[in-house]
Amino acid sequence: MIYDDISEVLLSEDEIKKIVERLGKQISRDYAGKNLLLVSILKGSVVFMADLMRAITVPCQINFMVVSSYGNKTENTTGAVKIEQDLDVNLEGFDVLLVEDILDSGRTLNYVKNVLLTRNPSSIRICTFLDKPERRVVDLKADYWGTDVPDEFVVGYGLDYAEKYRNLPFIGVLKREIYEEKEKMN
Ligand code: IMP
Ligand code: MG
Repeated sequence: MIYDDISEVLLSEDEIKKIVERLGKQISRDYAGKNLLLVSILKGSVVFMADLMRAITVPCQINFMVVSSYGNKTENTTGAVKIEQDLDVNLEGFDVLLVEDILDSGRTLNYVKNVLLTRNPSSIRICTFLDKPERRVVDLKADYWGTDVPDEFVVGYGLDYAEKYRNLPFIGVLKREIYEEKEKMN
């Protein structure tokens, strides 16, 4: 059972719900009268996106982008980011809000934001569910964020380790032995 691989629950389902409600209110207030386009960075933001969009009460459109950065590792050591699947919409005239699961080194969102800026949206901002500020290597701050987490590898609520654990309904810390053994072999 995947629950056995978790050492600690950091955010329960109830806590997550409260955070998402607060973000939905903030975003609905700030984007009233704008042309909001939520851009979900897949796969990690899938669960957050589904909850967040239902907590937003102003009109909005949605789109998706598949981006990969880590492979199976817990550290993005190379900093390489790849757009596996691009948006299928022209961004001109849209107030883009990037929806991401976690802001860690900042490399992924920095890269994506810069690429999308070249496409002339009316505005572009970032909404991340989790933030690990201690780990930042590029100068990037989210405009909206759910909560800070300590420098530990977390999974659940869309976040994975080697594509697993995305279906946990809470945010948990992955037991170290789960990834330390595997990463030694790589
Ligand atoms: P960044 O480019 O270092 O900011 O990393 C962003 C991406 O790395 C996120 O979209 C996640 O997919 C992944 N990531 C970073 N930290 C964690 C974590 O603790 N658990 C799971 N995935 C993570
Ligand atoms: Mg990931």
